Amino acid sequence: GLAQDLAGRHVVISAGGTREPLDPVRFLGNRSSGKQGYALARSAAARGARVTLVAANAALPDPAGVDVVPVGTAVQLREAVLKAAADADAVVMAAAVADFRPETYAAGKIKKKDGQEPAPIALVRNPDILAEVAGDRRRPAQVVVGFAAETDDVLANGRAKLARKGCDLLVVNEVGERKTFGSEENEAVVLGADGSETPVPYGPKEALADTVWDLVAARLS
Ligand code: PMT
Repeated sequence: GLAQDLAGRHVVISAGGTREPLDPVRFLGNRSSGKQGYALARSAAARGARVTLVAANAALPDPAGVDVVPVGTAVQLREAVLKAAADADAVVMAAAVADFRPETYAAGKIKKKDGQEPAPIALVRNPDILAEVAGDRRRPAQVVVGFAAETDDVLANGRAKLARKGCDLLVVNEVGERKTFGSEENEAVVLGADGSETPVPYGPKEALADTVWDLVAARLS
């Protein structure tokens, strides 16, 4: 939008997918490209916001005028988001954050030994950054937005996740061939803690970004 309805606001956006290392050459990761989070950053900057973009493993050009903080793991993403959120008016978590990380990190490359069964990978839980930001850490009047990529029972799962995480808005996008992870397009329903549902038809990730900021700006004013 051309309206400078986010002028004077600081917004924090997470984008991309965390990588949880097993050894110097391997990690557990996901298919997030960062495109949806970067579209959110460009849209917010165009509407006048000061933007901090916490970018996990995204191979995308830095948006003009945006403060980009590169991170690798969920723990690093948490540090960067909490730091930036301390004076933010809105936090939008578009990143795909690993729920678990390998319990141990092997300093040397893990070797396969002839005739040996593969060893199981022990995992430990990562912090839930969105729940922290929306809960104990929330500043007064701060608007907190989560994302959820679902494969089935999309709206029911979305409603349950919105309540569990305690955010104001949850953008539910269904995982599909030509949308969500990696593509230029997305399709979503934005659920509000007030019971509202805003459908966003299949289209460029910029369009979904604009709708998210419309809803955030309405809650900030
Ligand atoms: O990057 P793209 O290729 O453009 O793809 C965009 C996207 C699909 C990654 C994005 O639109 C999206 O849906 N992101 C959330 C992915 C997801 O499945 O999230 P989740 O259901 O695991 O987590 C729900 C919410 O909690 C998210 O806002 C997530 O950032 C947050 N979370 C999750 C786990 C965790 N440990 N900490 C968190 O803060």
